[in-house]
Amino acid sequence: MSFTKNEVEDVLRNVIHPTLNISIIELEMVKNLHVNGGEISFELGVNKKTATNIPVLKKMCIHAIEEKFGEKANVRGNIKVVQEAEPENALSKVKHIIAVSSGKGGVGKSTVSVNLAVALANTGAKVGIIDADIFGPSIPKMFGMESAKPDVFKHEGKEIIIPVEKYGVKILSLGFFVNPDDAMIWRGPMASNALTQITMNSDWGELDYLILDLPPGTSDIHLTAVSIMKITGAIVVSTPQDIALADAIKGINMFRSEKINVPVLGLIENMAWFTPAELPNNKYYIFGKGGAKNLAGKMNIPFLGEVPIVQSIREGGDSGKPVATNPESITGMAFQAIAQKVVDAVS
Ligand SMILES: Nc1ncnc2c1ncn2[C@@H]1O[C@H](COP(=O)(O)OP(=O)(O)O)[C@@H](O)[C@H]1O
Ligand SMILES: [Mg+2]
Repeated sequence: MSFTKNEVEDVLRNVIHPTLNISIIELEMVKNLHVNGGEISFELGVNKKTATNIPVLKKMCIHAIEEKFGEKANVRGNIKVVQEAEPENALSKVKHIIAVSSGKGGVGKSTVSVNLAVALANTGAKVGIIDADIFGPSIPKMFGMESAKPDVFKHEGKEIIIPVEKYGVKILSLGFFVNPDDAMIWRGPMASNALTQITMNSDWGELDYLILDLPPGTSDIHLTAVSIMKITGAIVVSTPQDIALADAIKGINMFRSEKINVPVLGLIENMAWFTPAELPNNKYYIFGKGGAKNLAGKMNIPFLGEVPIVQSIREGGDSGKPVATNPESITGMAFQAIAQKVVDAVS
């Protein structure tokens, strides 16, 4: 029995990558396909993007070929997995990309992102932050950089954005380029394009951590983010309040879904309690007690820490000097401890 290379290729065209949901032929994973009588051999090229579930994929190829051509097709042992050189891009020298997300808006996602970035930079790490909350960018204000205009240079005919830098963090936000009132009326594809531009057409250089402040909820932006970059893991921020937790669960399930498939590094409980300055030993659990911590246990997710409601945290955000810039303060220490847990979680 013999068959042609084209016939084999047609069979492999129906093998769909289990997490990317695209044919392996379309993904250009099949290389050096040789057909000689019943003997079929090829290489499966694997890169950062396609590297999930390779043993499963190999089995799928074998099954598809044997189903079509019968046992006489000899392919077992003839599929070689090869690591492909990664194409150079803006994120080639970025070690870890950490998405910060929440189900609900206003729970402190940007506050956590900014303070985590600064706390990581305090440890000597090279850190960047992307404000992917296109419809409500708050990163410029939290860094006191509202009027910053990032420089752009031309390289091989392409415009490359240079992130602005403060407190040791490289920063890009759409807020630097568009009036937020204009962004509010953008449609999904425009927002996705804008995120792709500030992420992939920028000079990030070498980074240990790139923090991605995502919009609340589950949106097209999340899909865009996972399709343009390999996210190391996601951190979900929630207050202990029931409605925030319900939305946090949705967020966690989104990251765990096949389409997104990003590991959840952990849950942070923000606004965990309030302690008035004049009653330093009292804790008031305004939004409920330990809700996010309990949820982490229930969903088998690491708990990365809790942050109380503190006036200086809000003031730090509003004044452009996040509390983590003072790592010796009590609030600064809280974010430093969270940063350490994040470092441990990704390494
Ligand atoms: N732990 C906290 N203590 C005091 N104020 C906080 C705390 N966390 C967030 N805030 C304030 O709450 C508001 C919403 O926080 P923000 O980080 O912008 O939320 P999100 O990005 O989730 O919409 C901001 O004014 C911020 O300064
Ligand atoms: Mg925000």
